Amino acid sequence: MDKFLLLLLLLGVFPFVFFQGVAPDTLCMVCQNFKKGQCLQGKGNCTMEQGPGCRTRDFFFFSEKGRWIYNHTQLDCYDFCMSSSFYFRDLKILTFCCKGQDFCNKYIGERKE
Ligand SMILES: *[C@@H]1O[C@H](CO)[C@@H](O)[C@H](O)[C@H]1NC(C)=O
Ligand SMILES: *[C@@H]1O[C@H](CO)[C@@H](O)[C@H](O)[C@H]1NC(C)=O
Repeated sequence: MDKFLLLLLLLGVFPFVFFQGVAPDTLCMVCQNFKKGQCLQGKGNCTMEQGPGCRTRDFFFFSEKGRWIYNHTQLDCYDFCMSSSFYFRDLKILTFCCKGQDFCNKYIGERKE
């Protein structure tokens, strides 16, 4: 192939390829025990390079009065984060995921109690 043509091709194609792959990292909050918008225990942060990986998990317990009581929230990063409801005996875990805004995982999930 013509060298000049090759150069044009490289210049034209490569920036596109590079910038496609570089999504901005999202900084997520890490917290073992997050309540009322504050981290009570195990505070830190982590970065997600791709995927909806800032995770928020709300933990509920089934009370003797027959309803779910919110207990606490955990925040972290998880590559395979998926929104879900998980039930195991008297435990319920609601999972939320977010990306694109730093510390977005502290703004979602249960915050009322
Ligand atoms: C992230 O955590 C590290 C220590 O774990 C800390 O030095 C840094 O300031 C934190 N960054 C932000 C933006 O909070
Ligand atoms: C409920 O939340 C408290 C913190 O407020 C925590 O210490 C405790 O471990 C949690 N209970 C369970 C079973 O996770």
